[in-house]
Amino acid sequence: MENNRGSWNSKLGLVIASAASAVGLGNLWRFPYLTAKDGGGAFLLAYLLITVFVGATLVITEVALGIKTRKNPVGAYGSINPKFKFLGVMNVITTSIILPYYSVVGGWILAYLAKAHLFNNMKDYKAGFLNLITADYEPLVYFLIFIVLTAVIVFFGVQKGIERFCKFILPALLFLLIVMMCRALTLDKAIEGVKFFFVPDFSKFDARTCLDAMGQVFFSISVGMGIYITYGSYLQDDGQKCIGKVIWPVVTADTVVSLLTGLTIFPAVFALGIEMTSGTGLVFITFPKIFGTIYLGTIFSYVFFAIFFFAAITSAVSLMEVAISFLIDNLKMSRKKAVWIDFIYCVVIGSISSLSFGKLGGFTIAGKNFFDQLDFLASNILLPLSGFLTSIFVGWVLGPEKLQVFTNLKQQKMFEFCIKWVAPIATLILFVDCVK
Ligand code: PHE
Repeated sequence: MENNRGSWNSKLGLVIASAASAVGLGNLWRFPYLTAKDGGGAFLLAYLLITVFVGATLVITEVALGIKTRKNPVGAYGSINPKFKFLGVMNVITTSIILPYYSVVGGWILAYLAKAHLFNNMKDYKAGFLNLITADYEPLVYFLIFIVLTAVIVFFGVQKGIERFCKFILPALLFLLIVMMCRALTLDKAIEGVKFFFVPDFSKFDARTCLDAMGQVFFSISVGMGIYITYGSYLQDDGQKCIGKVIWPVVTADTVVSLLTGLTIFPAVFALGIEMTSGTGLVFITFPKIFGTIYLGTIFSYVFFAIFFFAAITSAVSLMEVAISFLIDNLKMSRKKAVWIDFIYCVVIGSISSLSFGKLGGFTIAGKNFFDQLDFLASNILLPLSGFLTSIFVGWVLGPEKLQVFTNLKQQKMFEFCIKWVAPIATLILFVDCVK
């Protein structure tokens, strides 16, 4: 059954679309560098706990809100309680802050894809990365290609086609990551990296680590941005019977990709002498260095960055779609006009983000460059805030029992407890602790 809002042909369609949105730079780029910055095992522990008790709870909530209201996020919150319409608008703002700098990193991936043969055989891998991101025009050009491709896909509305493609991309990504992990784990001193990743150092376990972990969970499973409300609204009538079957595969796939990435990066970091403080460059330095140790590494490298690129662009497309559907539904724009406006906005903000590693490096706000500041604002402020407000809204204003017909979970009691208590208290404590 196709209605005018579109619908999924099967539950599998929803699972694939959600996994395509979830698995992306968050797993392969952001997760390892935050884990490195926040001391390894302690961060991982916080990350896993928050995924299960807060992240998954909010995914369930968002899908259920989508099924119940059959509207986009602004309409969904607004139709239940007009005072909460702003939450939907906040979702649109958050995705619009993320997309431009996300696309800058997407551009770096394109550069590595285009020049994999060079990047694999470097004397100094870190210098190679820094030369790329600080260059005058090169990163800008790759960023522009990435954002043009994203806009074109959104403009033609071919997401569904792309998502079908993800049936192949995701298994391919998993396969390659497993191969890479095996290579990394068999390097000398790899065990040091495994220890760093899995054994928590509790002296590093503080509110800031946990807030970083929370931001990362939200960013990575795409929660707190209304994506699942929109996707849930496309579920056909019997969708609610299987909400659990939709959610767990997505959360699990996302977490597994992050774990595999960590299990590849950290052993290699210790074995190949890579600096833990490489920051945003960690994955771009580590992976090529591993490829350098592999037979036919250059071929592997092309395949890896191609898949990495697809994972990134499918997420970028779903980020852009949030703003576009808001402009179309709420401001009554045509798709063409909406895409143009969003595209121009992304080009301006993304260019400043890209240049903030080079020419605009001197321009900092509260000690962070423009790129880092956008990431901090979206992931450490807006996402936890949106998680807090959504859980208050559903836990206390609407009442989780009103969603029971849609959630219909075996773990219903646990879900209700999490949405009423765990999610709001956890988000609030971390947030206040870090802001004060
Ligand atoms: N979850 C995506 C990633 O890990 C990013 C994203 C966030 C995509 C929100 C869509 C919406 O890369």
